[in-house]
Amino acid sequence: MKRHGIALFAPALFVLAGAVTNADTPVSVPAAVSASPTTGPAYTAEGRLKLPEDYREWVFLSAGLDMSYRDMGATPGHSMFDNVFAEPTAYREFVRTGTWPDRTTLVLEIRGAAEKGSINTQGKFQTGDVMGLELHVKDTKRFPGGWAFFAFKGSEPAQQIPTSADCYSCHQQHAAVDTTFVQFYPTLLGIATRKGTLSH
Ligand code: HEC
Repeated sequence: MKRHGIALFAPALFVLAGAVTNADTPVSVPAAVSASPTTGPAYTAEGRLKLPEDYREWVFLSAGLDMSYRDMGATPGHSMFDNVFAEPTAYREFVRTGTWPDRTTLVLEIRGAAEKGSINTQGKFQTGDVMGLELHVKDTKRFPGGWAFFAFKGSEPAQQIPTSADCYSCHQQHAAVDTTFVQFYPTLLGIATRKGTLSH
């Protein structure tokens, strides 16, 4: 089924898939290195990061509601949720070691928060509007500091945000583990604390 999907999407891969299919003995791919489309970051020839379209099937780390830590974000009367997702292989490695392996991708998805809708009388729920999609990618061969930030508008591949942007300095100075805000990810904070991987 998987092979089918790949063949339909990318004719170049069809050749590869064909080669595997034609082999007499079945080829078993170890789970840890299986060529799942989401295990590591993927780039265009120009070096733009491709959006991992299935990030909504990744591991959910946390939701923040109306958090305020930078000037550009919150407009008064405009309520937003932040949802953070980790690519599953990277997540499992974090659980094992307390820090992120090379080729980790983390996604921050910003959604509108609404109060009025259906039977709701109190509190806020998330709406269908994705108001921002930001990625934090660890790729030590590609980025001198190890990590890079990207902001997506729709699903078009995104250019790296220049390292002079405040994304880098704030994450560097305030984030709990390897420039990521693990202090706000409840299931990971305990792991990092036990493994002794917290910064400063
Ligand atoms: C003033 C501090 C600050 C600045 C500037 C900042 N961030 Fe963050 N970022 C945070 C905090 C706090 C969190 C975690 C809480 C949340 O938003 O859910 C976070 C989380 C993230 C995450 C989730 C993964 C992780 O690293 O923890 C991404 C992706 C992200 N930010 C991208 C960006 C991008 C892109 C920029 C620049 C355009 C940026 N941030 C600028 C403070 C900052």
